[in-house]
Amino acid sequence: MPVIEELAQEAAELARWRQDLHAHPEIAFAEHRTAQEVAARLAGFGIEVHGGVGKTGVVGKLAVGGGNRAIALRADMDALPMEEKNSFAHRSRHAGRMHACGHDGHTTMLLGAARHLARTRRFDGTVYFIFQPAEEGDGGAQAMIDDGLFERFPVEAVYGLHNWPGLAAGTFGVRAGPIMAASDTFEITVTGRGGHAAMPHQTIDPVVAAAQIITALQTIASRRVMPTEAVVVSVTQLAAGEAWNVIPDQAVLRGTVRALSPSVRDAIAPEITRIAEGIAGALGASARVRYERRFSPTVNSIAEAEAAAAAAEAVVGPSGIVRSLPPSMGAEDFGAMLERRPGAYVWLGNGPTDGGRALHSPLYDFNDSVLPVGASYWVKLVEQQLPVHA
Ligand code: NI
Repeated sequence: MPVIEELAQEAAELARWRQDLHAHPEIAFAEHRTAQEVAARLAGFGIEVHGGVGKTGVVGKLAVGGGNRAIALRADMDALPMEEKNSFAHRSRHAGRMHACGHDGHTTMLLGAARHLARTRRFDGTVYFIFQPAEEGDGGAQAMIDDGLFERFPVEAVYGLHNWPGLAAGTFGVRAGPIMAASDTFEITVTGRGGHAAMPHQTIDPVVAAAQIITALQTIASRRVMPTEAVVVSVTQLAAGEAWNVIPDQAVLRGTVRALSPSVRDAIAPEITRIAEGIAGALGASARVRYERRFSPTVNSIAEAEAAAAAAEAVVGPSGIVRSLPPSMGAEDFGAMLERRPGAYVWLGNGPTDGGRALHSPLYDFNDSVLPVGASYWVKLVEQQLPVHA
């Protein structure tokens, strides 16, 4: 792969950094060792370090030349609360914690790029290296924003990257517009009146109401949202009753909503409430809906998606870029940053998923062969977006 020569030569060293992070996974807002490693390396490269941004987040600042333009590059640092099943030497040393999403690789690629940029300084302006905590469901991006990320480190654009198993190693997936979905959760409590299972006419059965609500919720995607829009409404938990001969008082349903467009997302909560309350009411029961907005969709702006494609092309050539991948209905909290600044989030192929190399699999491992590719992408992006004018 035609990556930057020096970064190609550093491949083995980058792999050691990555494998060390892999062996020491830390979960949301507990990335103390990881943040310390990142801060120490950045300082060693001569980069100004700001720690404790959004609890365990770290921001590095590298200003070169007299230019007043600035962009930010973001990597996530956290691992998952799960047990690793790999047996290689760099497997997790901590029970119940694992880098199963490749954030060890993301952190390493951004560090590799930071060192290269600090050494070569072939750009004019300021680049901020954002090392974000708690991407896996706990809103680390929002925590950094709430801690003044974009006020303290003002940028015109922010860029993110995630490895993508199933996409050929070292290939980039780039698209303008939505690339990852919004992710919300809901809980529906159906209340009836319990009693003897053999005398159902004396009860109001919340289980029967819950069953009909589950079925009717399927009509949101099929009958309420325009067919060309993407939406997911999944009921994933159903809890009711404790005995086989007792009709319970309550049934609780929980689930998740995914949508690519903000307007579709906004329309879902009222639909869930209308269906749950309406069906429960028709059966003599009642329903209470709690809807929690969690993560915004990750939506790439057009100009910055083109900038990302140009940087990727400089590393892997036009044949190494896939522009036709559909968006994922998975979620990513980087969307919160893209709500505040223009930017682009790209996928970097991690190779085949054989042998369990899928995201969040207990057999996952980041593909070290793409470390120089991702680091080269970051370097090219900075050099192209903050060019030195002769
Ligand atoms: Ni991830």
